[in-house]
Amino acid sequence: MKSFKSIKDITFQNKTVILRVDLNVPAQRGRVTDTTRIDRIKPTIDYLRNAGAKILILSHFGRPEGEQNPEMSMAFLLPVLKECWGVDISFSPDCIGERAKEIATTLKAGDIALLENVRFYKEEKANDPTFAATLASLGDIYVNDAFSTSHRAHASTEGIAHLMPSVAGLLMEEELKALDKALGNPEKPVAAIAGGSKISTKLSVLNNLIEKADFLILGGGMANTFLYANGADVGSSLCEKGMAEKAREIMAYAKNNNCEIILPIDLVSVTELKENAEFKILPSSKIPEGRMAIDTGPESIKYTLEKIKTCKTILWNGPMGVFEIKPFDNGTNALAKGVAKLTNHGDIVSIAGGGDTIAALENAGVAEQFSYISTAGGAFLEWLKGKTLPGVAALSAYTETS
Ligand code: 3PG
Repeated sequence: MKSFKSIKDITFQNKTVILRVDLNVPAQRGRVTDTTRIDRIKPTIDYLRNAGAKILILSHFGRPEGEQNPEMSMAFLLPVLKECWGVDISFSPDCIGERAKEIATTLKAGDIALLENVRFYKEEKANDPTFAATLASLGDIYVNDAFSTSHRAHASTEGIAHLMPSVAGLLMEEELKALDKALGNPEKPVAAIAGGSKISTKLSVLNNLIEKADFLILGGGMANTFLYANGADVGSSLCEKGMAEKAREIMAYAKNNNCEIILPIDLVSVTELKENAEFKILPSSKIPEGRMAIDTGPESIKYTLEKIKTCKTILWNGPMGVFEIKPFDNGTNALAKGVAKLTNHGDIVSIAGGGDTIAALENAGVAEQFSYISTAGGAFLEWLKGKTLPGVAALSAYTETS
């Protein structure tokens, strides 16, 4: 699968590296609330520092849409980054221009500088070649360690890689290796768990999963659409009734591909969506008008875990219910704990990704027990569609004659 070089394949002594990372971290009122994305790029930065590179960290934060928006400045990350590496980190208030150049030229081997939000320029999103060349002129080597941004064909993720020697960072490599193990070259049987609210946003994901998995376990709002398509009463549950025909096509496609779709047998239903709402567990085919399904029921979880026990690889994207509202995280938690237990026993390899999924697994207290958790949200979904991500493809694009 690997057609590009990694940081281990080249030398960095005294070279200036433009290191594209994803510092689009969860934050509230200027404080980082989850450092996962920072922790996960640490091995790459440590490696580059030890190899004598001068490091220019390049990232986006939020979606400033080409405007210089102080609320989306990268500067607030400096204390966290300094703490992570225990060194001083200089900051360039512009990712290009005189200030960025000056900082790039004053760096010594092992030094780190942080550049301002690359999305302050509209040319970033437009993948403008002149802007990409300006970014490239700051360094000697481009390292992409931002798998989670590689679904974007932007100047700092795609364009730049055509213009200078470009290699993958350790996190990028780790992500691709883990995901390849899950879908590219998995140990069979494979179960894919797909949750979340809508099938309309995940159609191509589902079709790709069907081609690769032996079982497709559906939960969350999207399962209601499949149940409805099979003639079930879904009451006031979240359901894309207009997608019923599509759901039937997906089920037929699964049958042709020998992939068993597992739908909930029972569902937890409420009359109103609130914490500790009174609930009833009902058969999944009989949710009456006025009630809505908000979690997968215990029988469904039991049956699902029996199936999972027969598998070797589990891929998970999307929660089984409204896990943000207690106790309607029970179904997701029980399934997550079951998968974690089988992983701990060495019976399965479990891989999860996608923003909501990580939050749900963390809520269940088992995220760390999965074999691999991807740092990617949107990129993970794009990857699940079976697509080569533009930022990854571009790593093979540069030749000396480019
Ligand atoms: C993410 O958080 O998934 C990445 O940083 C990409 O962000 P984007 O969806 O704004 O491109």
